[in-house]
Amino acid sequence: MKAVGVFPARKELGMLAHPAPTCIAPDQVRIRTIEVGICGTDREICLFEYGTPPGDADYLVLGHEAVGEVIEVGPAVTSFKHGDFVVPSVRRPCPHDTCGPCRADRQDFCFTGDFTERGIKMTHGFMTEYFVEEEKHLYAIPRELKDVAVLVEPLSVAEKALTQIWQVQSRLPWANGSPERGSGRTAVVLGAGPIGILGAMALIVNGFKTYVYSRSAEPNPKADLVNSIGAKYVSALSVPVQQFAEMVGTVDLVYEALGVASITFEVVKILGLNGVFVFTGIPPHKPAIPVAADSLMRDMVLKNQVIVGTVNADRPAFENAIRDLGIFKKRWPKALDSVISGRFPMEAYRELLLGKATGIKNVISIGE
Ligand code: BGC
Ligand code: ZN
Repeated sequence: MKAVGVFPARKELGMLAHPAPTCIAPDQVRIRTIEVGICGTDREICLFEYGTPPGDADYLVLGHEAVGEVIEVGPAVTSFKHGDFVVPSVRRPCPHDTCGPCRADRQDFCFTGDFTERGIKMTHGFMTEYFVEEEKHLYAIPRELKDVAVLVEPLSVAEKALTQIWQVQSRLPWANGSPERGSGRTAVVLGAGPIGILGAMALIVNGFKTYVYSRSAEPNPKADLVNSIGAKYVSALSVPVQQFAEMVGTVDLVYEALGVASITFEVVKILGLNGVFVFTGIPPHKPAIPVAADSLMRDMVLKNQVIVGTVNADRPAFENAIRDLGIFKKRWPKALDSVISGRFPMEAYRELLLGKATGIKNVISIGE
């Protein structure tokens, strides 16, 4: 069958013939791929900065954000049937008995580093016509969410970040009695890519007054989208960080989804008392930059601040992502649809993966 993959040893990206998978264990499910999202991680793998093929292969099939339709279930599968729509998760546990998180299905916190990730690290991905997956790594998608379900995986990253935030802030009486945990608080989202926009939606749903601080000058379609959901877009090009701080007031939370350290560490300076700053972006390795480390350390201590990094997602994060997509679709149907900026055939892979990054979330359509 057709697949898009990389040959890291030859530094090549191409369309390849990949063997069609079959179910070989009773708890496996065979899935027909419908859509696969493209993200910064895929683009980085195509620059050979990241990504590893399975041990026995010289290529890695790309794709870790997918939605598909179940076409076969093994005899032990109880939660899915033919015709169901599903989204797979990305990370698979390491093999070591001593890894508590992996043994408890919390491979997002793997201790050994020997986890694998579909389409990223040592396991083929979903940018192909069919794939096989264990039941426990799949999530059921309600029919009415099928068209936006390719956003579940990127949203799951934001959902895990939110859970980290609640856990960090449980150190203080942060909540003010409102059922919306962010009510009366101000959040800043750095970056207006899919992880930033989906994160902003989740923050608004949780009651935060939300600003999105990003590079592109206004007007631009991402700014329009952000403003249409009730957040406020501010361009870093026209409003420098200090001026932004005056505009926003106390910043209780910063959700970084930009992957650019220079801007990020400038914004750390404006985090408020008892604030939390969560990093989700994965910058490529670059030369060191100056950071006002003493001031930063002084502030972190005197203001009780926490910076926390988060990667990947667990089962509750996927479940929250599916629930929140349903909420977003009711509240902002047009804006949510426009997060998916383009649908392309598999043959367009080269421009999508190597060309200038355009739009918000571009998707490869493989089936209906
Ligand atoms: C994926 C995560 C993955 C991370 C690091 C991201 O693009 O969404 O699931 O853990 O890359 O490989
Ligand atoms: Zn991704």
